Formats: sequence, C-alpha cells, structure tokens
Amino acid sequence: MLGDLSVTRFGYGAMQLAGPWVMGPPADHDGALAVLREVVELGITHIDTSDAYGPYITNRLIREALHPYPESLHIVTKVGATRDQQGGWPPARKPDDLRRAVHENLENLGVEVLDLVNLRLGNAEGPQPGSLAEPFETLVDLQRQGLIRHLGVSTATAQQVAEAQTIAPIVCVQNMYNLAFRQDDELIDTLAEQGIAYVPYFPLGGFSPLQSAALSAVAARLATTPMSVALAWLLQRSPNILLIPGTSSVAHLRENVAGAGLSLSDEDLADLDKIGR
Ligand SMILES: NC(=O)c1ccc[n+]([C@@H]2O[C@H](COP(=O)([O-])OP(=O)(O)OC[C@H]3O[C@@H](n4cnc5c(N)ncnc54)[C@H](OP(=O)(O)O)[C@@H]3O)[C@@H](O)[C@H]2O)c1
Repeated sequence: MLGDLSVTRFGYGAMQLAGPWVMGPPADHDGALAVLREVVELGITHIDTSDAYGPYITNRLIREALHPYPESLHIVTKVGATRDQQGGWPPARKPDDLRRAVHENLENLGVEVLDLVNLRLGNAEGPQPGSLAEPFETLVDLQRQGLIRHLGVSTATAQQVAEAQTIAPIVCVQNMYNLAFRQDDELIDTLAEQGIAYVPYFPLGGFSPLQSAALSAVAARLATTPMSVALAWLLQRSPNILLIPGTSSVAHLRENVAGAGLSLSDEDLADLDKIGR
C-alpha cells in the first residue's frame, strides 16, 4: 500500500526513458512508448517518475502513452531537484520552486491531483543532514489545497524521515538501496513496523549495474540472471519494499517481471547477504 493506494509490488521506474544521462528525448520515441504500454499490459500499477527526467521528457512520454490512465494505475513523482545545462541535478527546494514543480507535474502528466509526491532531499553524494521543515511544509500546503494525495521523502536520512512524520503523514521513503548498498537496513525495518513503504532506487545498481561473484554464482545455481536474483532478493528482504527497476527495453522489462518472482532459499539468501554486509 502507498497510503490508501494499492499497488503491485513490482513497479516501473521511468527515468531510463529519457536520453543519455537522463537528458533530452529518447533515441527511440516509439520504443519508449512501447515500454510504457507494456508496463500496463503486464498489470503493473505503479510508475515512478519526475519532471527532472529529460527534463519534462519522461512525464510527457507517460502522458502520450497512457493518458487517459487506467483507474488502477498510480503515478508517483518527485520534486526538489532540477537540471542544469551540464546535466547536473541542483536542488530546487524553495517554496516557489516546489509550487512551480507541482503545477508542472500536474500539467505534464495531465492530471488534476498527483497521487504521491516525494520531496527529493540530499544531493549527488546522497542524503545530507538538515531540517526539511520549510520544503516539506510547502508540500503539505499543496496537499491541503487538494493538488497532492500522499507525500513521501527521498534521499532522506532517518532523522529527516522522523522530522517529516512530526509535520504530516508520509506513505513512503525512496532511497538508494540494493544488494550491495545497504545503508538503510535499520530504516527499512522501522518503516515496516509502521506500515510505510520503502522504495529502493538503483535496485539493479543504477548507472553501473550490480556485479558480484556471489550474485553470479547464485544466479548460475538457479539458472537465471543476476538482475532477477537482485530483484527477488529485494522482494524477500522486507514486505514493505516496492520495486521500481528502470529499463528502456521491453525485453528487459518482461525478464525482470518474471525474474522477480523467483523464490530464494535460505542458502541463497545467506550467500547474497554477505555481499552488502
Ligand atoms: N529518488 C531519486 O533520487 C532517484 C534516483 C535515481 C532513480 N530513481 C528512480 O528509480 C528508478 C530505478 O533506478 P534506475 O533506473 O536508475 O536504476 P536500476 O533500476 O538500478 O537499473 C537500471 C539499469 O539496469 C539496466 N537493466 C534493467 N533491466 C535489465 C536486465 N534485465 N538486464 C540487463 N540490464 C538491465 C537498464 O538498462 P536497459 O535500459 O538497457 O534495460 C538500466 O541501465 C528510476 O527509473 C527512477 O524512477 C530515483
């Protein structure tokens, strides 16, 4: 669950649909639309996106491919970072930046209410300490105006997650986490106890895909791919984890959906556990 929204645990991360380094349009426009349509065909009901992707490209592709949206589909977006000429991701968390970003997301996705907006904190190095009160309160205000259904935080420290919860309810935390990068182990367990979703980004390693001898050995033993094992491991790691792996390929999307359903034994889990510990 994302608040009162029920979603499939296997979602889709749309960042890879923009051009190289998430700038500009995709080389294959029709191919990008085909991936999005396949997402819905496969029964996936959770898409993760942002107007920072492209910028604006990914949201417009989603609208072109899928609008009017099926009632079961929930689109999660994020605000708090923008793009510069060099492809960097500078923060944009002043109240005016956030108000503009929410209105741009509404416009580009073609909706009257955003299902879930994550406040993107931190920077390229990851989460950074500091109060989120001003930007988070701005989003709470937009939520009160009826423009946002649910709120979440991204690239947040455990302290920022706790601070957000003193201001308004959150329904998810979206941070970097995968088999090899397990900084949030404790936070995931805390959120699970609270019934809050944890949505790992870079579940497959992001721009440099996961590579590990132990991962390859488990995949070989199960006659599957390392990517499938990495996704199945996340699903078995905690019941509050929702997947949003990215791909620009219909074939990879199908492979990942099928692979994530793999059942890992205690022996597999013990071998995989050593990678990130
Ligand atoms: N909150 C944040 O700050 C933040 C930051 C980053 C990402 N995100 C979100 O998280 C989502 C996931 O992250 P991500 O897409 O960057 O990284 P990811 O899911 O860890 O990995 C995506 C990469 O893996 C490749 N891949 C996918 N399936 C594969 C397969 N079966 N075989 C081989 N390669 C495969 C993709 O290439 P192909 O295109 O060739 O398949 C792509 O290069 C994003 O789409 C975005 O929505 C959020």
